[in-house]
Amino acid sequence: MTNIFKINDENILKAADVIKNGGLVAFPTETVYGLGANVYDTKAVASIYEAKGRPSFNPLISHIAEIDFLKTYAAVDERVLALAKHFWPGPLTFVLNRIDENPALDLACAGLKTVTVRMPNHAVALELIKKSGVPIVAPSANKSQTISPTTAEHVFESLGEKVDMILDGGQCKVGVESTIIDLTCKNIVLLRAGGTALEDLENFLGEKIIISNGNPDMPSSPGQLLKHYAPLHDFRINALKREENEFFIGFGEIKDCDLNLSPKGDLCEAASNLFAFMRLADADGRKIAMSPIPLEGLGLAINDRIRRAAYRK
Ligand code: TXA
Ligand code: MG
Repeated sequence: MTNIFKINDENILKAADVIKNGGLVAFPTETVYGLGANVYDTKAVASIYEAKGRPSFNPLISHIAEIDFLKTYAAVDERVLALAKHFWPGPLTFVLNRIDENPALDLACAGLKTVTVRMPNHAVALELIKKSGVPIVAPSANKSQTISPTTAEHVFESLGEKVDMILDGGQCKVGVESTIIDLTCKNIVLLRAGGTALEDLENFLGEKIIISNGNPDMPSSPGQLLKHYAPLHDFRINALKREENEFFIGFGEIKDCDLNLSPKGDLCEAASNLFAFMRLADADGRKIAMSPIPLEGLGLAINDRIRRAAYRK
């Protein structure tokens, strides 16, 4: 018996019923797999925190399938609409001011006056949201402080039977989580580098985005908890070559490695392999080392994730 289901109309309808009835469905998005529940069902939302073992102050992203839905619970202005029309569906998440007083939203928003929303670029995710008839809140479908899942098997390994259904959409294309920007003030602030490149956002807006320097250990900027993506074994980053007894993850022209994120030096390819390779490295049991990754395009998100993974208190 398994709770992994292949993608077909019947299983998507079944999954929508699970959401409507307060259950948890893990589903594919273009970034990573999400662990989804009905945003308005507090009990279901609580079971997400429980299944993940996630600190309760950490707010969740609502996934929607139509831009119009935004207006029902978030303050929307021209800038938000322009960004949504240009970048959605896609790996970009907005932090917006909440307008819905519905207390059922409190838990998903972790008590904040903001609501966090994105429209994923994945046919299965969009179909599931539409069939469920509600926004689906979904953190990445893994235990808190472990590596985000990019396949259905990863979800199963991390959460097992805590999920009612896992929809198997194969490997996620983008492979790192969405970029998160705070749009609640005049100046836009980058809260998490991710699948949408900072340069693309700045080019579109014609302005600079502020990179948040919030205290990484403070819950007020929960997306920035330092020890968030942690393999079990010691992890050395910016490693120029392998040391004795290390599992070495290379990038670009590096040949003496156990795995190479992208032999041709493509940062998109590297991002989509990142979490799966970190898992393989962790399972190997040796210490882990990784080549330097250029700080441009998706390299920003990759460096952000691996810095957290390498962080030791
Ligand atoms: O690509 C993604 O964004 C994936 C897929 C499933 O959509 N989701 C995801 O969710 O990565 P999660 O919960 O694992 O990460 C969301 C991050 C958390 O670190 C949370 O603290 C931060 O976003 N966050 C959410 N709402 C926030 C808010 N209002 N202010 C600051 N940070 C917020
Ligand atoms: Mg996560």
